[in-house]
Amino acid sequence: MSIYLETERLYMRPFEADDAHALYLLNNNPEVMRYTGDIPFKSDEEARQFAIDYVTNSQSQYVQFNMGRLAAVRKEDNAFIGWAGFKYHPKEDFIDMGYRLMQPYWGKGYATELAARVIQHGFEDHAMQEIIAHVHEDNVGSQRVVEKTGMRLSHKFLWAGKLPARHYVISKADYDHQATARN
Ligand SMILES: CC(C)(COP(=O)(O)OP(=O)(O)OC[C@H]1O[C@@H](n2cnc3c(N)ncnc32)[C@H](O)[C@@H]1OP(=O)(O)O)[C@@H](O)C(=O)NCCC(=O)NCCS
Repeated sequence: MSIYLETERLYMRPFEADDAHALYLLNNNPEVMRYTGDIPFKSDEEARQFAIDYVTNSQSQYVQFNMGRLAAVRKEDNAFIGWAGFKYHPKEDFIDMGYRLMQPYWGKGYATELAARVIQHGFEDHAMQEIIAHVHEDNVGSQRVVEKTGMRLSHKFLWAGKLPARHYVISKADYDHQATARN
């Protein structure tokens, strides 16, 4: 597994054990986790095990599909700013695009930059036919990010049977159409 993606200001790479403390801090900020529903890591050690397992476990999506969430790093200072990438959901048979940034890095256009590159990677390197994103109904910032990347609202639903959320989608045909319009 050696995915490496670049944008103008950032790059994405597989998680490393040394990301543990940053991952711990990321998931222990209630503002960051407000709309995600994930459980924070209990310690740096738990985050370290997660990072190692996520990349090396034979059942992991990294190993099985060469795909997963990727650490996002700022080129100018090598700062770990969060993550972005894919997750395959076998039960529903869809691939979601997601991202999560440390709070000091919000409001700089980074999420949009990462999401656009992840979508390009999905369609151009993985030959995906459709990518989806799930966003909490009140997560206005994330809705804006997915809309800026060309995803469209498909329907609203209850996440885990209880949280109001939006199902966004972009198809390969949408992506190709938008690419033509951009050029
Ligand atoms: C949501 C999140 C990824 C946004 O990241 P970001 O890097 O600040 O987003 P961008 O700078 O690319 O902003 C994209 C657009 O959204 C807008 N936006 C971002 N956060 C916003 C907010 N809280 N409220 C309103 N608009 C917001 C920006 O103004 C920008 O719009 P514009 O281009 O029209 O000016 C970031 O706040 C985050 O990581 N939150 C915690 C985790 C999370 O919610 N992840 C998504 C789960 S679905």
